[in-house]
Amino acid sequence: MGDFEPGDKDSGIVFRQIETSQIRESADTGRLIFCGDNMELMKTLSPESIDLIYADPPFFSNRNHSAGAGNGEPGSFGDKWNGGLSEYLEWLEPRFVEMKRLLRMTGSIYVHLDWHASHYVKILLDRIFGYGNFRNEIIWYYKTGGTSSRHFGRKHDTILFYTKTGNYFFRKTKEISYLMHRYGFSNIEIMNDGKGYYTLVGMRDVWDIPALRGNQPERVNYPAQKPEALLRRIIDASSREGETVADFFAGSGTAAVVAEELKRRWILCDVSRTAIDLIQRRLSRRFASFRRDSLPQIDVCHSDSCE
Ligand SMILES: C[S@@+](CC[C@H](N)C(=O)[O-])C[C@H]1O[C@@H](n2cnc3c(N)ncnc32)[C@H](O)[C@@H]1O
Repeated sequence: MGDFEPGDKDSGIVFRQIETSQIRESADTGRLIFCGDNMELMKTLSPESIDLIYADPPFFSNRNHSAGAGNGEPGSFGDKWNGGLSEYLEWLEPRFVEMKRLLRMTGSIYVHLDWHASHYVKILLDRIFGYGNFRNEIIWYYKTGGTSSRHFGRKHDTILFYTKTGNYFFRKTKEISYLMHRYGFSNIEIMNDGKGYYTLVGMRDVWDIPALRGNQPERVNYPAQKPEALLRRIIDASSREGETVADFFAGSGTAAVVAEELKRRWILCDVSRTAIDLIQRRLSRRFASFRRDSLPQIDVCHSDSCE
């Protein structure tokens, strides 16, 4: 979707506009996009109704993120806090409390941050979810972005993974680990993919996934858009087919694209009308070709808090 144009209309999917009074029923049974403040949405949802939450809030970057005003780019969002870190944390806290209420007892939450505030948010999450329910600090490592003559290049984001209880669903996934040579290993299967000898090992907590760049087909030019490969790992590891994935800071809707592909149900929310329009167009184009004879219905609700 590198040539994505904000005005494109190409729908194989039925979008049904619903009222706020219909939200709970829609979220319990199907696919829902909500435009408005995520607090408003979360308060209407049933407790213990969600299996997996991916949360990618503003990072406390002290910037307004814009993909380039005046270039026909689809979105922007603010991340400036006059009251500083304490205002940011006070804004996040009730949202995480709601997310915990919504998670099923076997559910998981992944909170995506970077160096600006991840350490403070870790303490907040330990208080809300319990230190004992912390599972991983995942390092998403990428090579893009600048360097500095004043400090080391900042090349990773931090994803904090918690579960609601100790009895949670987790699928062990595997990754390739290249070997220097193939000698001296007797009990493991060794393969060669042309780049070298490798074995499969359990997925580790440092994820080397390229950040999105200009010409990649999945790119829709939303600021802070995350790669689908990243969401695929999370959704695959911490949910099963038919279960419900929620993203209450949806941006360009990456979580829904992957959840739909992996046959999960999903709930998306963003406060920005531009983001919601973009999500609808992205889903339409992505699933247009193979959905025409079995059109899934997606409910869309615009509340008064939609900006
Ligand atoms: C980092 S971006 C998410 C990017 C997304 N993961 C993607 O792949 O495109 C954060 C999003 O949170 C949204 N947001 C900020 N405050 C919100 C609120 N109170 N309720 C819902 N969404 C909010 C912003 O509009 C922005 O789109």
